Amino acid sequence: MRTVDLIQRKRDGEELAPEEIVYLVDGYTKGEIPDYQMSAFLMAVFFSGMTDREVAAMTECMIRSGSTVDLSSVPGVKVDKHSTGGVGDKTSLIVAPLAAAAGVVVPMVSGRALGHTGGTLDKLESIPGFRTNLTVEEFRAQLQRIGLCFIGQTPEVAPADGKLYALRDATATVESIPLIASSIMSKKLAMGIDALVLDVKVGSGAFMKRQVDARRLAQMMVSIGRRADKRVQALITDMNQPLGYAVGNAVEVMEVSQTLQNAGPTDLTRLSLELAARMIYLGKITPTLDEARELAQRKLLDGSGYRKLKEVIAAQGGNPLVLDKFELLPNASGEHQITSPRGGFVSAIDAEDVGRASALLGAGRNTKEDQVDPAVGVILDVKVGDRVEAGSVLCRLYYTSEDHLEEAAAVVEGAFRIASHPPEERELILEVVS
Ligand code: URA
Repeated sequence: MRTVDLIQRKRDGEELAPEEIVYLVDGYTKGEIPDYQMSAFLMAVFFSGMTDREVAAMTECMIRSGSTVDLSSVPGVKVDKHSTGGVGDKTSLIVAPLAAAAGVVVPMVSGRALGHTGGTLDKLESIPGFRTNLTVEEFRAQLQRIGLCFIGQTPEVAPADGKLYALRDATATVESIPLIASSIMSKKLAMGIDALVLDVKVGSGAFMKRQVDARRLAQMMVSIGRRADKRVQALITDMNQPLGYAVGNAVEVMEVSQTLQNAGPTDLTRLSLELAARMIYLGKITPTLDEARELAQRKLLDGSGYRKLKEVIAAQGGNPLVLDKFELLPNASGEHQITSPRGGFVSAIDAEDVGRASALLGAGRNTKEDQVDPAVGVILDVKVGDRVEAGSVLCRLYYTSEDHLEEAAAVVEGAFRIASHPPEERELILEVVS
């Protein structure tokens, strides 16, 4: 087998055999295939795509490149949830405790903020003392004890993905649907799960800007899961405006607390309940999805999801009282209001701009090495469809340093569109792929 022939065949739109994909991925991971050839192959994939068979081979090979976690000693069905990333998307912190309170075992493997999108680990680490770097033994023991644990990706899991992702990042090939699908699924399937609920975001604040691309990504991930004998369902959900009102880290934990006490924003509550219901259903706690929806709702209303999150915070080294006393969370030192230049209806709030503004204040990262400021962020006062007067507050920027405040304020100001008529209502949950 010659690497150059495989690159050429992929460039010309041919399907490669599974062993040819394995040759490329293994060869690259072991350092036998140089960066320049793998870069050319990735660019060929970017333009020619991959079949489901090729993506499955790539995923399996990336899983085999590292260690996998064996959760068979933990009783119960293990169900994880993954979002492709958005702005204000704190659903994992709501959905996981609701599903766990209903009896699902939730090994929640989460990521960090990058660019304009937030990360669950950074949100959790805004809780003083909260540890996400647990060992696999601690992870397993906590799952056994309380049915839910939040951890980050360990470097031993799918190292081929780490190496390939860095190359994709440097060669403008990140935004390839088969490469994203295999990257996400290799890391999820290596963690010993039985089932997975995916939230594929589409819109200005998401990786996927078009619904047709989000659908293809969802279909590919569901198909990879099915080939690996896992139950996988994907929701395609709107990410044109931020989810909920809070965007940042500690401010999002505060909104999570409100939502788990049934006093959260409508869109966030609705999406969280649907995702939790699907986890409960895939976790075989109820025989039908409708019963799972009722159970998720009950776990919200009776406060057991809220109590489960407190239990997890205590188990992972944090003070559970942060959910009641927000002053125990990092708080910003300054507040800057953005007001509406005229009266009318909010017709759009560009999620990417709000995410960028929050990142500029320090809540996000430009590179993986950057530190986040847990206290800062943006809190919206309005959502799309709301009526505003001239001078009404549209949102508030919370900051600890004025270094990028002016720039962040300009970015966020540009995010709002005010029209004379109310906009057409937009669906939040656009499609289900299963
Ligand atoms: N998240 C991942 O883990 N991988 C990608 O390729 C894109 C998003």
